[in-house]
Order: sequence, then C-alpha cells, then structure tokens
Amino acid sequence: MTTEAPLLTVENLTVMIGGAAVVDHVSFAVGRSQVVAIVGESGCGKSMTAFALMDLLPTAARRTGGAIELDGMPLHGLDEAGMRKLRGKEMSIIFQEPVAALDPLMTVGDQLVEAIRAHQDLDKAQALYRARALLETVGITDAGLRLKQYPFELSGGMCQRVMIAGALGSEPRLLIADEPTTALDVTIQAQILELIKQRRAEIGASVILITHDMGVVADMADRVLVMYAGRIVEEADAFDLFGRPRHPYTEALLRSVPRLDDQPGTRLPVIEGAVPRPGSHVGGCRFASRCPLVIDQCRAEEPGLLPVDGGRRRSACWRHEEVGA
Ligand SMILES: Nc1ncnc2c1ncn2[C@@H]1O[C@H](COP(=O)(O)OP(=O)(O)O)[C@@H](O)[C@H]1O
Ligand SMILES: [Mg+2]
Repeated sequence: MTTEAPLLTVENLTVMIGGAAVVDHVSFAVGRSQVVAIVGESGCGKSMTAFALMDLLPTAARRTGGAIELDGMPLHGLDEAGMRKLRGKEMSIIFQEPVAALDPLMTVGDQLVEAIRAHQDLDKAQALYRARALLETVGITDAGLRLKQYPFELSGGMCQRVMIAGALGSEPRLLIADEPTTALDVTIQAQILELIKQRRAEIGASVILITHDMGVVADMADRVLVMYAGRIVEEADAFDLFGRPRHPYTEALLRSVPRLDDQPGTRLPVIEGAVPRPGSHVGGCRFASRCPLVIDQCRAEEPGLLPVDGGRRRSACWRHEEVGA
C-alpha cells in the first residue's frame, strides 16, 4: 500500500427503510486498484450500501446521512443528472440479479450501444463495434449473434457476462460487484471472478466485491469489511482476517466455510439464530444474542468499531483480545 489518497471514502453512511436504519453509520475507504470485499449474511445491508454509493436505492429506501467522496469529489450532494454522468463512466455496478438489470425489450446490442454512447462520443457503428469487442473480452465467442438477441434468449450466465461487459464498457475507476456469482454454476463463477481480476489488472480499477462466500473473499480481496445488522463489525486486510478474526461474527463466518479436508457429508457449522430485523435493535451489541463470548457488558453497551492490532484493523467487540486466541 502506498500513502496515496483512497479512491473512495465513505463516512457515516446511513440508509433508512420505513423508519429503520438498514445501513447504520458505515465508514470505510477503498484504495486505488484495491479489491475490498463486503461480507455478511443475507439482510445485513451489503446491497443497500452498494446502491447508496451508486445513488440507485429502491424507492422504499433513503440515504439520510453520510458523506461519499470519489477521488476527492463529493457525491452525496450531486443531483440525478450529476450522478448519471458518473454512473457507468467513473463507477459501475454489476447487480446480483443479472436478468432484472437488463431491459427485456431491447436487444443486447442496442443496450450496450446506448450505454457506450451515453459516455463516449461515438457514432452508432463505432459503438456497435466497441460493444462487440466488449462481449469478446468477457468471453462471449459468438458476439455477433448475441448482439442481436434479447435477454430472455440468453442463459443466466450469459446475461451476467453481458452485464459485466456493460459495466466495464467505459473502464470505470470503481467497479461494484454485488454477489456477481450467486446465481451461476461453479465453472462460470470462476470465469466471472477471473474476468473481474483481469479487468482490474488491465485498467487499474478499484473493486468493491459483495459476497457471502469466504472462499471468494480469500481468492479475491485485499481488504475485508464484515457487515452485521447494518454495521461494519470488523475490517482488516484479508491476510490478517483469515489469520485470526477479531470479531466472533467473523470467526463464525469463517467456520462455516467448507474445507477441502471435510469428510463427504460433513454438516457445515451454521450460525445459530438469525440477523436481527432492522429497527429491532434496542441497545448493546447486535450480535450478542448469537455470540458464544457474550458477557453482560455486551448486552448493556454497543461496542464501537475501534482500531486494534496497532491500527492495522478495526473490530467492534468488547472481547476482541480473546477472539480466535
Ligand atoms: N426493496 C426493499 N424494501 C424494503 N426492505 C428492503 C428492500 N430491500 C432490502 N430490504 C431490507 O433491507 C435490509 C438490508 O438488505 P440488503 O442490503 O439487501 O442486505 P444484503 O445485501 O446484505 O443481503 C434487509 O433487512 C432487507 O430485508
Ligand atoms: Mg444483497
């Protein structure tokens, strides 16, 4: 790591849905060319964090606070026109649900051409040529045919590739990938991840990779944010995190990863209980009811996300010294 200023900084980001904070004072930074993974169980606020960064929250959700800066430029005050200029150009998102992200009434070619021409001064033929090249970079061999097809004519994996082609089309400085592999089979998953790595190397993009798969994190991430119930509970370099978690929730997530030396049929440990519903939190640590290390203090007082290990990482646990010991 250099001392260069981060590409993205997020301070106290808060997103509310119906009076409840689903993202609650979340702060982090993404360095240049860095891959930052956001992990956590379903419902912890990972997607809402991503959508808030892109200003693409669903209508039910609202960003009520926080500062977002991309390369020193504040995004939190931009209007829709201002954001539209950045989206796809400076920052792109690959959605969890590829089919829903594509327009069912437009051919793949028309969608890509539209996306490309929104940010680049190309005529239609030039844009079409570029679209074809993009499909080839994401490993689509019969690109000419695919350009003429509609999303429903393509498999899920193919739609995912088209979306990635669109997201990478203008060489964004920040690529957000929200569980880009969840719906795909293992071989295609591996190809998609390889593609993201490649593009990062080629264009020096920073990546926010959202996943609940710790195996993917180990493979891809430089730094990891662990989210629980709308908050970051641990942040560390991937190497340090896997070496030793400093939050019991991280430890539980790591334990639920299948290992190569597991006997066939071994039941994976699951974390007992469920993520508390947004707005149901009344005080204390949000993980307390599921935590094997819980003490009275945890139920009484919510721990802040504070530097540990000489400031290399952060943990929101009163007993972080004892975790993973
Ligand atoms: N469109 C929506 N309307 C209402 N609540 C939502 C909507 N989308 C997500 N939520 C709620 O917001 C919280 C955070 O969701 P999300 O960010 O999608 O979690 P994750 O991506 O970590 O699985 C969850 O409690 C979820 O139920
Ligand atoms: Mg999600």
